[in-house]
Amino acid sequence: MPLHFRRLNYLAAVGLLAVISPAHAADPKPAEEVYKNITQLKGTPADQLIPAMQFIAASLGVECGFCHVQGKMDADDKPAKKTARDMMAMMATINKTSFNGRQEVTCNSCHHGLAHPASVPPVLESEPVAPKPVAQAPAGQGPSVDEIVEKYVTALGGPDALRKITSRVEKGVILANGSESPIEVFTQAPNKRITVSHMGSGESFTAFDGVAGWMGNTGRPARDMSPAESWASSLDAEFYLGLKLKEIFPQIRPPRPETIDGVECETFQATAAGRPPVRLSFDRNSGLLVREVRYAQTPVGRMPTQIDYADYRDADGVKIPFRWTLSRPNGRFTIQIKEVQSNIAIRDDRFAKPAGEVH
Ligand code: HEC
Ligand code: HEC
Repeated sequence: MPLHFRRLNYLAAVGLLAVISPAHAADPKPAEEVYKNITQLKGTPADQLIPAMQFIAASLGVECGFCHVQGKMDADDKPAKKTARDMMAMMATINKTSFNGRQEVTCNSCHHGLAHPASVPPVLESEPVAPKPVAQAPAGQGPSVDEIVEKYVTALGGPDALRKITSRVEKGVILANGSESPIEVFTQAPNKRITVSHMGSGESFTAFDGVAGWMGNTGRPARDMSPAESWASSLDAEFYLGLKLKEIFPQIRPPRPETIDGVECETFQATAAGRPPVRLSFDRNSGLLVREVRYAQTPVGRMPTQIDYADYRDADGVKIPFRWTLSRPNGRFTIQIKEVQSNIAIRDDRFAKPAGEVH
């Protein structure tokens, strides 16, 4: 495969390009009406099928070709595909009979990245070290959610400084799969955002227009994001996330301490109505948001997306992250901003999904 094609596939896998999902991704149709040969996952929303497949591949540490013949995904030519169907049924039974129907046991619970799960624990490969005492304070003993959110908003510059900025144009680079491409991010309060990455001959777009998300590449028709993708991109588009956290997430669990890359953090789990939870972690000292983990629901388990925010710098009176890394089980990329302009007029149709091909 030529290198640029592999790169496009890779970017598709990490969600930067819209090439693998079916055209009807926004439809709430069941999988069996969109795909040809669905027996176990009947009734699953069609837009959860590819995320479910990515979840399975990541859990077993295999590629799609482990179970599928390239170009005919509906065929049942490989024995592993049949085994996978039996495993789905087994998993559903375990969760039903032992966990009240909650999705506790998933492919990953047993497989942990291996096609053949280890049934025997490993022997010690080196001298045992004395376990370090873990200061695992129970939830609710540290700062409250309100205190954490207030400290975060203050660290960003405070509500007044935040509201003085209503739009932002950021320019930088996206680092993915060992190469670097220019990128621009346009954001407009309260919640419009478009990311344009310039790769080789064309451009790739990921956008939220204030109501719904879409993706596209130069020369192809744009596609609507699925409801789950759209919701995730609406979070990225929130211009005043800190000020709106409690409105967006009516349900927030008591915070717990957590250490992330050596940094002491406070983490809480926040839930918006009808959505899987989002985990937010704040640096205990600086108050800044360092990590967001959100999940996409699939019939076989939740697919995580982790965004690590770093390199906070001042931009016209408020602090913004100049670097963030988005990681999924199947890929990651980093965006490094080099230049920021605030309160620039952005054409409103900049965020709109083009009717025909993207150009
Ligand atoms: C461990 C085995 C396994 C792996 C790995 C796997 N799949 Fe699947 N795939 C299945 C099974 C089983 C079904 C059928 C599900 C059912 O019957 O409900 C399926 C169905 C599909 C379908 C529906 C085809 C149709 O028209 O009926 C598509 C598309 C698909 N997989 C894509 C992928 C992609 C893309 C990957 C890699 C990210 C992948 N699969 C990885 C087992 C696997
Ligand atoms: C309760 C534990 C458990 C769960 C949950 C589980 N598996 Fe397995 N799976 C196993 C074990 C054990 C084997 C190995 C059986 C063997 O070696 O014969 C296996 C084997 C497989 C194989 C055959 C591998 C090969 O080399 O052919 C596939 C494919 C597979 N599992 C897919 C899945 C999928 C997909 C899920 C989630 C829907 C899943 N499994 C959930 C325990 C589990």
